[in-house]
Amino acid sequence: VSALRVADSVLAKLVWLAAAFTVVVLLAGPSLIGAKKHGAAAAPAYGAPAASTAADGKAVFAKSGCGGCHTLAAAGASGTTGPNLDQAKPDKAAVTAIVNSGAGIMPSFKGKLSDAEIAAVADYVSSAAGSK
Ligand code: HEC
Repeated sequence: VSALRVADSVLAKLVWLAAAFTVVVLLAGPSLIGAKKHGAAAAPAYGAPAASTAADGKAVFAKSGCGGCHTLAAAGASGTTGPNLDQAKPDKAAVTAIVNSGAGIMPSFKGKLSDAEIAAVADYVSSAAGSK
């Protein structure tokens, strides 16, 4: 009889442990699932900006009026005030530098465009002009 009582109290403790474990899992479970959902959502979100960088660069080129002064066939631009970019074929570093600094009558776009926009337009111009 006393052996049964011992077994009974051990079982009772196990039941409590199981109940406590269930509660912990229930409490922690949603946050674990939530964390996984955040991770899964972040992966495609990282891909999206990368995929749209070229489009952004083209948009920055258009909205900044680069085409008013420069010819760049890919952008449908035929400006003649500045060098023809299809012929100059500036690389990304060259575009970044001159867009930041300006040169002669070309204005500096620093402060008018964000660093990300300047990087995007430099990427766009260098690849559209065929330097890379
Ligand atoms: C007001 C006219 C004007 C605008 C607007 C303009 N540029 Fe220019 N750009 C020039 C001129 C002029 C030069 C030549 C500067 C010099 O070397 O004296 C030049 C030079 C450049 C060069 C160097 C070309 C080479 O010979 O290697 C690049 C690249 C360039 N511009 C890109 C851009 C981009 C990108 C934009 C838009 C964000 C832009 N420019 C907006 C007039 C302009």
